[in-house]
Amino acid sequence: MSAASHTVVIRGTGSYAPAKVVTNHDLSKTIETSDEWIVTRTGIRERRVAGRHEDPSDMAAEAGRAALKAAGLTPADIDAIIVATMTGDLPFPSTACLVQHKIGARKCTAFDLAAACSGFVYGLEVASSLIRAGVHRHVLLIGAEKLSSILNWQDRTTCVLFGDGAGAVILSRGEGPGARNSIIGIRTGADGEDAGLLYQHAGGSRHPATADSVAHGQHFLRMNGREVFKHAVLVMEKTATELLKEHGYTAADVECVIPHQANRRIIETMAERLEVPLDRFFINLDRYGNTSAASIPIALDEAARAGRLRPGGLVLLVAFGAGLTWGAALLRWPAGA
Ligand code: ACO
Repeated sequence: MSAASHTVVIRGTGSYAPAKVVTNHDLSKTIETSDEWIVTRTGIRERRVAGRHEDPSDMAAEAGRAALKAAGLTPADIDAIIVATMTGDLPFPSTACLVQHKIGARKCTAFDLAAACSGFVYGLEVASSLIRAGVHRHVLLIGAEKLSSILNWQDRTTCVLFGDGAGAVILSRGEGPGARNSIIGIRTGADGEDAGLLYQHAGGSRHPATADSVAHGQHFLRMNGREVFKHAVLVMEKTATELLKEHGYTAADVECVIPHQANRRIIETMAERLEVPLDRFFINLDRYGNTSAASIPIALDEAARAGRLRPGGLVLLVAFGAGLTWGAALLRWPAGA
C-alpha cells in the first residue's frame, strides 16, 4: 500500500458547553435590545458563557475526552492534537499544548490553527492529509472558543451574536480492507483583502496591549455585520456547490448539511440557493449563538448523538469566517462513529 493511500475514518465526536446560559432576555436588561430583535435577525435565543476561570483549553479538554470515549481510544493513542481557535488561552504557547497536558496525552505533537470560524474545516483538511499521508494514525481535532472574553458587552451589534464552547472529533487511519473513507473531499479558501470586516485590533504584535488600547476598547471583536453577511451567503453556497460537483454529487444527494452556526437567515438563504430543504440542515444556533471554530464540531456531535447522521449518508459541512476564510467538507458518515 502506498503511503498516500490511507483511508481516513471519523471515529468519534464530542462536545462541551459551559453551564451558564445567557438568554436574550438577560441581555435586554443591560443593553438596548430585545428577544424579538435578536430572534428575528439571527435566530439566536440564548448562548453559553464560560466562567471566569474556565479557559478554552478546559472546554477543549472536555470535548476531547468525550470524543476519545466515543472513539474507544485513550489519550496515549493520540498522535496529534490540533486546536482551531481565535481565542486561545494565551498568545503563546498554543492552546493545543495546554490541552495535551490536561488530557494526559504524553506522546503527541500539538498545535493551534487560526482560521476563525472556518478553523474546524481547515483543521479537517490538515488532519486528514496527515493521516492519508501516513504521518499520523489518530488525530484529535478540536474547535474551542471563549468569545465572551473578546466581546464588548455594551455593543449590541456584536455581543448578542456569539457564545462559548468546544467540539471535537477523532480522525483515524482506516484499518483493514473494509475501512471506508469518511472524508470524500474538502475545499478551503481565503481572501485577506477583506480582513478588516471582522477582526480584533489590539493584542497582537502590531498593537500590543497598553493602558490606552484597553481604555479605547481595542481588544474587542469588531465586525461589519452587513458585509460579512453578504460574503457569507455567496461564498458558502459557491464553495459547497463546487465541492459537490468536483466529486460527482449534487446538493440533492446530501442527507444532512451542518453549516457554521452564525445566523439563521444566512442558513435559510443558503438553503434556498442550494435548493436543499431547510429540514436537512442541522441548526442549533438558537441555543449556542455563534461559537466560531467550535460551532460545526458542536453541531456535528449533537447531530451524531441525535441520530441525524445515517451511516453511509452524505454530510456536508460549510463554514465561513474572519480572514476572510471559508471551507466545505463532504463526508460519508461512518457506521461506527
Ligand atoms: N438589538 C436591537 N437593535 C440592534 C441590535 C440589537 N442587538 N443590533 C443592531 N441593532 C440596530 C442597529 O443599530 C440598526 O439601527 P439603526 O437602523 O437605527 O441604525 C438596526 O438595528 C439595523 O441594524 P443592521 O446592522 O442593519 O441589522 P442587520 O439586519 O444587518 O442584522 C446582523 C445585523 C445580525 C449582525 C447581521 O448583519 C448578521 O448576522 N451579519 C453576519 C454576522 C456574522 O455572522 N458574523 C460572524 C461571521 S463568522 C466569524 O468568523 C466570527
